[in-house]
Amino acid sequence: MFLEACRGEKTRFTPVWLMRQAGRYMKEYRDVRAKVGFLELCKTPELACKVTVDAVEKLNVDAAIIFADILLILEPLGFNVTFEKGDGPKIDPPIRDKKGLERLRAFEPASLSYVYEAVRLARRALKVPLIGFAGAPFTVASYAIEGGGSKEHAETKAFLHRDPGAFRELLAILARSINAYLRAQIDAGAQAVQLFDSWAGALSAWDYREHVLPHSQAALAGLSVPTIHFGTGTAAFLEDFAKAGTVTGIDFHVPLDEARARLGSKPVMGNLDPAVLLAGRAAIEKETRRILAANKGRPGHIFNLGHGILQQTPVEDAIALVDLVHRETATS
Ligand code: CP3
Repeated sequence: MFLEACRGEKTRFTPVWLMRQAGRYMKEYRDVRAKVGFLELCKTPELACKVTVDAVEKLNVDAAIIFADILLILEPLGFNVTFEKGDGPKIDPPIRDKKGLERLRAFEPASLSYVYEAVRLARRALKVPLIGFAGAPFTVASYAIEGGGSKEHAETKAFLHRDPGAFRELLAILARSINAYLRAQIDAGAQAVQLFDSWAGALSAWDYREHVLPHSQAALAGLSVPTIHFGTGTAAFLEDFAKAGTVTGIDFHVPLDEARARLGSKPVMGNLDPAVLLAGRAAIEKETRRILAANKGRPGHIFNLGHGILQQTPVEDAIALVDLVHRETATS
């Protein structure tokens, strides 16, 4: 059902999965994390497979996403990547100028073979399609430039405008590496892939079009499976954003009917505000029905949140959401 919807085909019900569906809101995940650190979890294929599959079984979603992280690719490129408790990710040393580009190592796809092994294991264990993923060149670059997470993305945007040539070179290197990484996940069995451009919305529409979109298109070029292009804050340039990927991720800022009117027959994924999952069943039902009504029964809709599930989410309410989408959209 999920893959049919990615192709824009009519389905018996609307497929649904939740971004970041394996995570700290789920007891099974916390139990695993009580024993191993986050990076160790990512690098142990049996455990990464387990948390991937646990989330699918618990939620009854129509797709799995391999457990990994968008920042893993920065290690083989020559950065130290650490996740300190409560501190968010740290990337060291940050890259701030053209000289920093000289430190980058050539990406060897085999350096992330633990991800491909997790993909192979999860494929064997799953009945629903498995999504591979990577961060988009811009969002990965923003972590490498800032040295971690950031609200303003000031260093990233200053780099872009101070030295557009070096910025282009950095994003081109990332796009080539990400494309090779996604190909290797597909070779290992991923049936669709998602590109997370979580911070694309930090940019103006013209900067996005000129400095970012071509690299996201390159990252997704020539892949043999459906591709989902996800970003937040993309409303100002949604038509351009939709030029990369077979499915467009819609965050929760844009009403789904408006997004669909702007994108024509393009398949879309979204767009429940993850905070609604903290508001109780009545609110969840009301907002879910509003989104389904806005889609007006058109094919090519994958139900999802408009961004990753929040840590405070009651797992029973996430389960109820998946069940509600299935019941409300079943055609026979
Ligand atoms: O279930 C899934 O969706 C698959 C796994 C997944 C993770 N990260 C696991 C994870 C996916 C798809 C991601 C993508 C990711 N990683 C994004 C884009 C997604 C988005 O919501 O926009 C981003 C920006 C990152 C970078 C990152 N990784 C951050 C900001 C953090 C949070 C750090 C913190 O301390 O909370 C992570 C860590 C991370 N990645 C966790 C999980 C489950 C939590 C780590 C833990 O267990 O402590």
